[in-house]
Amino acid sequence: MNGVAPRVHGLVRGLDAVGSSPQFEGRFGRMFRTLPAAKFSEKALKDLAAAMVAELEDPPTPETEPDGEENTAISAGFTYLGQFIDHDLTFDPSSSLQKDNDPDALVDFRTPRFDLDSVYGRGPDDQPYLYRGDGIRFLQGRPLTGNPNDARTRDLPRNNPAGGEPKRALIGDPRNDENVIVSQLHSTFLRFHNRMADLHPNAPFARVQRLVRFHYQWVVLYDFLATIIGKDTLESILPHLKKKTDVLKDPPDLRFYTFRNNPFMPVEFSVAAYRFGHSMVRPIYRLNTTLPDRQVIFSLDAQVDNLVGFREFPANWGIEWNLFFDFGNNPPKLGPTRIQPAYKIDSSLVNPLGKLPPSIAATVPSLAERNLVRGLRMGLPSGQDVAKKMGFPVIPDKKLKVGKAADEDAADNRPLTDVSAEFAGKAPLWYYILAEAQQVFKNNATPIQLGPVGGRIVGEVFVGLMLGDRHSFLSQDPLWAPAKELTRDGKFGMAELITQAMKA
Ligand code: HEM
Repeated sequence: MNGVAPRVHGLVRGLDAVGSSPQFEGRFGRMFRTLPAAKFSEKALKDLAAAMVAELEDPPTPETEPDGEENTAISAGFTYLGQFIDHDLTFDPSSSLQKDNDPDALVDFRTPRFDLDSVYGRGPDDQPYLYRGDGIRFLQGRPLTGNPNDARTRDLPRNNPAGGEPKRALIGDPRNDENVIVSQLHSTFLRFHNRMADLHPNAPFARVQRLVRFHYQWVVLYDFLATIIGKDTLESILPHLKKKTDVLKDPPDLRFYTFRNNPFMPVEFSVAAYRFGHSMVRPIYRLNTTLPDRQVIFSLDAQVDNLVGFREFPANWGIEWNLFFDFGNNPPKLGPTRIQPAYKIDSSLVNPLGKLPPSIAATVPSLAERNLVRGLRMGLPSGQDVAKKMGFPVIPDKKLKVGKAADEDAADNRPLTDVSAEFAGKAPLWYYILAEAQQVFKNNATPIQLGPVGGRIVGEVFVGLMLGDRHSFLSQDPLWAPAKELTRDGKFGMAELITQAMKA
């Protein structure tokens, strides 16, 4: 482990448990400082963005038939857990898409810590309107119906403005109301906090919050990260998992993400690697088994029901989470009661992300273009330079294709250099990490997770941020584990967290 304060060694247990950081923001920075910025013309990036946005699926594949873009490795809930985690770690409302930015001078409006500042805001003293009168539990919103397994599903608390204005969510980070799924995931976390308060009736707010954070961090490392980067990469970063020991005996191995005192948010992560999730978004979702239809993610046609957020949505849209995560009850592979898979991590985004609604992106509506241009403005190195620097084999140009990792499309996918000759030997990092993931593609059933560059960046940044946070379970109590009663077959993942939340 280079340069990262090895907090797990020589730690006096409990010494760090006092107080919490007054900071509500952090810093951006660079992981690969010595690599040159990859320069592209805006035209080349716009052309690539256009090539990465898929055709509109009209009509969409019925849920009774296999869909080639579905990922056998990852269920759809992880897309929105991924988005939720992003909103906990990073928020850059100030950099410019029009001119170059210096990441060292940019403020991350979220702490680069897994501390759920997106949920807690600045806490019950400073933002009492998020909390119940007891100053411990969260307020919740109106009841939602549609989920036959949970009569207590609740919306986020919302304001009630006059004059037909949209009812905005009253939460720690407005982006967690960006779509109906991440919004209900946020309300599930509110309920999980309340459940922890119920299980520890005499505990003060700070203790409940600490327990919630520890459980969340456990899910982030051992469920989310394992699912996204795969067992081998995770075990190479966290060798204790393979050796079946603990982080004290076998500490994490961070080779590329290092920092001196406080962790920073690397732009290679926030502007490229961790945006892999945009390719996992499906065009259409079944929210529950009682609604006759599925809903499209976004539509610019006001007549079409869709999952855009920042507003009150129909009350019968309560999410049935076993259509999004595996609760171990062996649902069928197809049909309305199946677990919906995420779309594959590949160099293709579903069509609605090419034309985001104005409430999400007022200018530059293509998410692909935003990501690519943001990468340019942030001076990101090329994917090939990063791969070389990390000691991974560089993908040759002829294997860098643009389009879906699906039987129906793979043969027709254009080479990247066909989109623009500017990309010869030099691909934008965000694109490269997506194309790298799809290199394993053989047929529609191939599970697709992040490849070596993407997996190692995401894995190291997650583990590094957790080690660098004095308040995380890895720093404070590395041998901590969720209580046995909360686990299923010895495991505590997102499904188990939701199971507990539903009891509140
Ligand atoms: C429907 C789903 C989603 C939508 C509509 C969406 C939309 C957006 C938009 C509009 C931005 C700002 C882009 C820019 O101006 O540079 C953004 C940023 C970002 N997104 Fe997403 N996103 C979604 C899901 C996800 C997922 C699933 C992940 C990861 C697993 C993710 C990771 C990120 C990251 C890391 C940023 C940069 C945040 C920052 O530093 O400010 N997003 N997203």
